Amino acid sequence: MDFKLTEEHEMIRQAARDFAINELKPGVIERDEKQEFPKEQVKKMGELGFMGMMASPEYGGGGMDTVSYVLAMEELSKIDASASVVVSVNNSLVCWGLDTYGTEEQKKKYLSKLTTGEKIGAFCLSEPEAGSDATSQKTTAIDKGDHYILNGTKNWITNGNSAEIYLVIAHTDKEKKHRGINAFIVEKGMEGFEVGPKEQKMGIRGSDTHSLTFNDVKVPKENRIGEDGFGFKFAMKTLAGGRIGIAAQALGIAAGAYEMAKEYSKIRKAFGTEIKNHQAIAFKLADMHTSIEAARHMVMKAAWDKDNGHNYDLSGAMAKLYASQVAMDVTVEAVQVHGGNGYVKEYHVERMMRDAKITQIYEGTSEIQKIVISRSILAD
Ligand code: CAA
Repeated sequence: MDFKLTEEHEMIRQAARDFAINELKPGVIERDEKQEFPKEQVKKMGELGFMGMMASPEYGGGGMDTVSYVLAMEELSKIDASASVVVSVNNSLVCWGLDTYGTEEQKKKYLSKLTTGEKIGAFCLSEPEAGSDATSQKTTAIDKGDHYILNGTKNWITNGNSAEIYLVIAHTDKEKKHRGINAFIVEKGMEGFEVGPKEQKMGIRGSDTHSLTFNDVKVPKENRIGEDGFGFKFAMKTLAGGRIGIAAQALGIAAGAYEMAKEYSKIRKAFGTEIKNHQAIAFKLADMHTSIEAARHMVMKAAWDKDNGHNYDLSGAMAKLYASQVAMDVTVEAVQVHGGNGYVKEYHVERMMRDAKITQIYEGTSEIQKIVISRSILAD
């Protein structure tokens, strides 16, 4: 067993770290305050190859492994989780889904624009009445021969307004339940497709989350992904990989907050010495470091499973469940180590605490991860 990263992995990690410090950190507090999408930063991440890391090089992707992707996600998330969720959704839900299941034409037309960041993608599964219960899709797509007519509403869509290419899940035949669900590529600008108001969020406020409505949107048949009825499996398979990305995001938020708390403990003095010399603080740092290291091992194992052709439903779900809990615990403690300053925006950790919460909710809540885990361990 070799825990050492390759030279290439180290280079990717360093490149993501440099980008996060030099390009994401300046303005991160203001973007959070104003709910401002990191448009310029996302454009640059596209130019640097962070938007389609695992996608095939022939469609502009980086052809990298999942380990590279989670390393980058961790480093970006240490500084700016709003920017890293844009990377995560674009890479693991949209690019990976199209690269793995799209037709040659779909890849040429859409994937090649998504991998370079020329266009941003969104994954549209959740609905007002279908969040965790994902098979209860109310959005419909009626087969009209050479096209489908799409009607319905999607909720809490990451990149809702900034995206231009949307993967939309809809029922084509309700009688067939989950086997009557399909996934479609919908473009911004198609008649009848409207982006709703922006959600006012607690955390990851720089990312834009919107509802979407489809009123008789004509979607060409060639925009369906996979065989008829493949849509639910498409969503589940895509989300299984997405959960590794969000686990890496949670890990990064935790690791970023921990690094700040550690540095602060070396400069802040109380009772005549730096607070790191008080066991109350040193033990907090010890607990934070230990849980982060455990989460990192789980994230890496899930990425390794995916890269080596093993089933990663279980390891991905466990990594997300655990890393998101670590993100919550560590960010709360990082605020505590900072004392009064922890409650103030300029010290970053209060934002990280707010950002951490969503990792226990999106791409499957912690309770959904426990369904996936328990079904998997009880299957035999
Ligand atoms: N891979 C392949 N197929 C899978 C699968 C997987 N990982 N998981 C389930 N399936 C298949 C099953 O085999 C079954 O198909 P067959 O009957 O043909 O065998 C079908 O899917 C239905 O499976 P279940 O009976 O297990 O379905 P269920 O109704 O019990 O739901 C669930 C399972 C795991 C709870 C699922 O509904 C789920 O994951 N819910 C959470 C949805 C979610 O993650 N939403 C997040 C929104 S996206 C987002 O947040 C993105 C963003 O913007 C950040």
